[in-house]
Amino acid sequence: MWTALKSHYDSVKDRRFETLVDSARAADFSAQAGDMRFDYAKTNIDTTGRALLFDLLDNTGVAEKRDAMFAGAKINETEGRAVLHTALRNLDGDPIIVDGTDVMPEVLDTLARMEKFAEDVRTGAFQGQGGKITDVVNIGIGGSDLGPAMGALALRPYHDGPRCHFVSNVDPADIADVLRACDPTTTLVIVASKTFTTIETMTNARTAKAWMGEKVTDPAAQFAALSTSEQGTADFGIDASRVFGFEDWVGGRYSMWGPIGLSLMLAIGADAFRAFLKGAQSMDLHFKSAPWHENLPALLAVVGIWHNQICGHATRAVLPYDNNLSRLPAYLQQLEMESNGKGVSMDGEDLAVNSGPVVWGEPGTNGQHAFYQLIHQGTRVIPCEFLVAARGHEDDLHHQHQLLVANCLAQSEALMKGRDLDEARSKVADKFDGDELERQAKHRVFPGNRPSTTLAYPQLDPFTFGQIIALYEHRVFVEGVVLGINSYDQWGVELGKELATALQPIVEGADASGKDGSTAGLVGFLQKNGL
Ligand code: F6P
Repeated sequence: MWTALKSHYDSVKDRRFETLVDSARAADFSAQAGDMRFDYAKTNIDTTGRALLFDLLDNTGVAEKRDAMFAGAKINETEGRAVLHTALRNLDGDPIIVDGTDVMPEVLDTLARMEKFAEDVRTGAFQGQGGKITDVVNIGIGGSDLGPAMGALALRPYHDGPRCHFVSNVDPADIADVLRACDPTTTLVIVASKTFTTIETMTNARTAKAWMGEKVTDPAAQFAALSTSEQGTADFGIDASRVFGFEDWVGGRYSMWGPIGLSLMLAIGADAFRAFLKGAQSMDLHFKSAPWHENLPALLAVVGIWHNQICGHATRAVLPYDNNLSRLPAYLQQLEMESNGKGVSMDGEDLAVNSGPVVWGEPGTNGQHAFYQLIHQGTRVIPCEFLVAARGHEDDLHHQHQLLVANCLAQSEALMKGRDLDEARSKVADKFDGDELERQAKHRVFPGNRPSTTLAYPQLDPFTFGQIIALYEHRVFVEGVVLGINSYDQWGVELGKELATALQPIVEGADASGKDGSTAGLVGFLQKNGL
């Protein structure tokens, strides 16, 4: 399977794919889901390579596993769990059975409770000690933070509820900054934690409760919780009426569609949140039914596999030319790297190919003035994924938006075409000659032949935002199936957590002699300097 792809790559790797890109290829190597278009014409994938990549999907059973996931099978085998974030946007309520029970009535009931609570907060029917809620502080980390925090930024033009703040880091600077800006008597604190044991979140939640307790008689009354742990939330003192639960089949990094999305719902309202869910649901239907060559999640996945596992490009830049998606790269870092950063396959064997790529990025055009130098002229190839909207939300500044779009399209063109030595020479021939002309021209050469894809859509509204995030979720699923790994566990985060717990007494003054020399030396240095 892999061998055929790798030998095909060897046979085409030196060609300039620019020569392939005519309008027929542009039509063939792009696909549409609803009104969103994905273009992968500016890559070195040809029809032979694409057919081999689709064989990979068929031979690894992607369609069967996709159907099993949607049906509630326990595909998270290392934890014995179903993977059903899609149930959270199954708005029609068609039954999904887990362990003999239809999960949908409870999902829809929780959604209705969230909507009622959000409406009460937004209208002032639910009040803090000082009156209508002005600020919401979401305390959570990882999947209990990145999704809603990214969403609140992405959908800022639709924000008409209370101000929303997000606290994640255990660094006290994070919570101190946020609380300083809030009035405890009109603040709602949401503790978002699937497990309700995560040390960063629980520490910040206690800090927030103490802060509120200085001004508010019953601080717990201004707290809500989003968690699978009824016991944990009750022990913290949060009344069950403000606890929004979910099941263990919602993975943390896939959880923004349900209760973990409450802060986003408070910001944009229940109707806009439903539109967001509907966008995701439409991508689910597309993923389930479209043939591979029209299937956006499958196409993103095969492009990713081609660049990472076949061409050996270790990183992938995500470059939204849409400032409201400025947190998308951070969100995707968890979604993709926590899901597919695994070295062992589902059956316990070492992976024969690379695990998922390093994902990183910044919004355009900021990135152009920072790291694009490396992307264009560095020695390593970095596949780029551009995202761009036809329209922004600033109608009176549409001309400025057009400049943004021109920059986005120019970058993918520049990456593909590059600039050869002759052209570089002609650029500086009026300033230099002889050896100096050769030297100067060389610095102005762009190798080109660098791949990129573009996801284009009309406007980043709640529906489209839902489509985009669900698209990336399913892409991660497809890549994970092809690699044969479990995309839904995250054992790789455990060791550091255990060692941090063991190190806490040492940083507080206990004997460090059992630690390695470097760690003990650093503790000593920090202690001498005030730790
Ligand atoms: O760091 C691992 C992790 O378990 C993530 O997968 C998760 O999103 C995050 O911690 C937060 O977990 P919780 O929601 O249980 O607090």
